[in-house]
Amino acid sequence: MTRMSEPVEIRALTPADACLGRSIALLGAAVSGVDRCSDGVAERAAVLAEEIAAIDPDGRAIFVAWRSGQLVGFCRMSRDAENPSDWWLQGLLVHPDHQRRGLATALVTQGMVYAQERGAAAIGSMTQRGNVRSIQFHESLGFEQQGHLTLPDGTEMVRFCLATG
Ligand SMILES: CC(C)(COP(=O)(O)OP(=O)(O)OC[C@H]1O[C@@H](n2cnc3c(N)ncnc32)[C@H](O)[C@@H]1OP(=O)(O)O)[C@@H](O)C(=O)NCCC(=O)NCCS
Repeated sequence: MTRMSEPVEIRALTPADACLGRSIALLGAAVSGVDRCSDGVAERAAVLAEEIAAIDPDGRAIFVAWRSGQLVGFCRMSRDAENPSDWWLQGLLVHPDHQRRGLATALVTQGMVYAQERGAAAIGSMTQRGNVRSIQFHESLGFEQQGHLTLPDGTEMVRFCLATG
């Protein structure tokens, strides 16, 4: 049995999928251990619904993964505003019960193909410095570390880049 043998559907969302904002917010809550009934989840759902409704396929794509009818994975690919041949991988999430089965690899691979088809020469990403599994995930896909930066709130981040051109 391969790791991806359970049926998985991965697709890019369209503005008609704005109703999935809540499902994605609940996925984020499951990953971060936040109460699914909290105000933060409702606020995040509303922000996501707005983002999905306004998707511009030439500059942004959101990919989600379903397994057995449950939304279990999410990632966003965004074109860089200043360097249009650069794209960013953002917001990657896989439900804790579905991790380490190749789902993030499948999601991000699909996202990278999408960006490459639209001229991406490089894909950037960032993750928190202490997020070992995310750092190892990026390196497993060939991303290279490009140094560190500190966000205004003091969070230490690792920068990654993957040349695709
Ligand atoms: C990071 C994350 C997205 C990985 O998702 P995933 O579906 O489990 O990843 P995959 O199964 O595709 O893993 C591919 C490779 O990444 C590395 N990796 C993934 N999870 C790992 C872990 N917990 N420890 C060490 N390496 C890990 C491994 O090299 C793995 O290959 P292997 O299983 O053959 O050893 C997932 O753990 C997650 O959602 N974490 C919480 C949110 C987060 O940190 N997001 C990233 C923000 S940038």
